[in-house]
Amino acid sequence: MRAVIATAAGGPEVLQYTDVPDPVPGPDEVLVRVAAAGVNFIDTYRRAGVYPVPFPHGVGSEGAGEVVAVGADVATLAVGDRVAWESGGPSYAELVTVRESRALLVPEGVDDRTAAALPLQGLTAHYLVTSSFALGPGHDVLLHAAAGGVGLLLTQLAAARGGRVIATVGSPEKEQLARRAGAAEVVRYRELTDLTAELPALVRDLTGGRGVHVVYDGVGRDTFDASLASLRRRGTLVLFGASSGPVPPVDPQRLNGAGSVYLTRPTLGHFVADREELTWRAGELFDAVTAGALDVRVGATYPLADAAEAHRALESRATTGKVLLIP
Ligand SMILES: NC(=O)c1ccc[n+]([C@@H]2O[C@H](COP(=O)([O-])OP(=O)(O)OC[C@H]3O[C@@H](n4cnc5c(N)ncnc54)[C@H](OP(=O)(O)O)[C@@H]3O)[C@@H](O)[C@H]2O)c1
Repeated sequence: MRAVIATAAGGPEVLQYTDVPDPVPGPDEVLVRVAAAGVNFIDTYRRAGVYPVPFPHGVGSEGAGEVVAVGADVATLAVGDRVAWESGGPSYAELVTVRESRALLVPEGVDDRTAAALPLQGLTAHYLVTSSFALGPGHDVLLHAAAGGVGLLLTQLAAARGGRVIATVGSPEKEQLARRAGAAEVVRYRELTDLTAELPALVRDLTGGRGVHVVYDGVGRDTFDASLASLRRRGTLVLFGASSGPVPPVDPQRLNGAGSVYLTRPTLGHFVADREELTWRAGELFDAVTAGALDVRVGATYPLADAAEAHRALESRATTGKVLLIP
């Protein structure tokens, strides 16, 4: 089959579209013909060597497609089922193996591209608003990169739970998308001269001087200080990513100075570790999509052969919503 392999740690140029042997499903796995593979920021961290993986590295972990073979112990899935996954085998490929325990049956009415776009970023948005901070009516929320893959879903889920979303975005086009997703206020943070000083001041103006109950920060290095300074007393900073680079070590005393605030650095795997939690979260997301309550924006699709282009676009802030690769 054809697949995308990272030959060594490096820039997008290390991604090679090449022939590899077809994967063979183990007893507890299904073999899936990939209809669409999700591109996620974590794919770029692994490719770049920021998150260490062995090389050559089969890239990707997310997608949707049709089951074409099942392992001997698989009890709940059959050939012909449509499934999606957030932690399958290397998914920038024509074929992939997925453990039965990680496969999500795609409901009628959800097309393959939507199904591939939802798992990783949707499950992340879901745990962020339910479990990292239990968001509810009346909460003021600061949310960075609101027009991104996680960002657009997170904005919608936060607004649906009654949060008042103050969104940051990198461009006027992204501002439109964030507003359509439910952001009450939008700040074009690239236009600020001093983000760390100006953003918290803007946030305080918008919250009667108090600051927000929660900040969702997937940008990391460039926004961390502004995020911390935008919290109200005893607020929560959820640092969930590093699209601008990793945050340097933090002195715990800074949490005292910021108002006895909470800092958490969560990761999706810990919020979908057991099947029951995974299917609860995915079920709520698929239900919201079929009810028309959650819009999954696929901002760009690339042929599988152009995975390097997709990475370049994601890393240069040129994308909105989900990026997909089509084998
Ligand atoms: N912890 C978890 O469980 C988990 C799970 C999924 C994703 N994540 C994290 O969530 C974040 C968003 O992931 P995603 O896949 O949805 O990506 P994305 O938000 O679609 O793309 C990244 C966005 O970050 C913003 N950004 C700000 N500074 C940047 C810089 N220097 N370089 C590149 N982008 C920059 C850009 O938006 P603007 O132009 O609007 O600034 C860009 O579009 C990533 O940090 C990812 O690692 C974490």
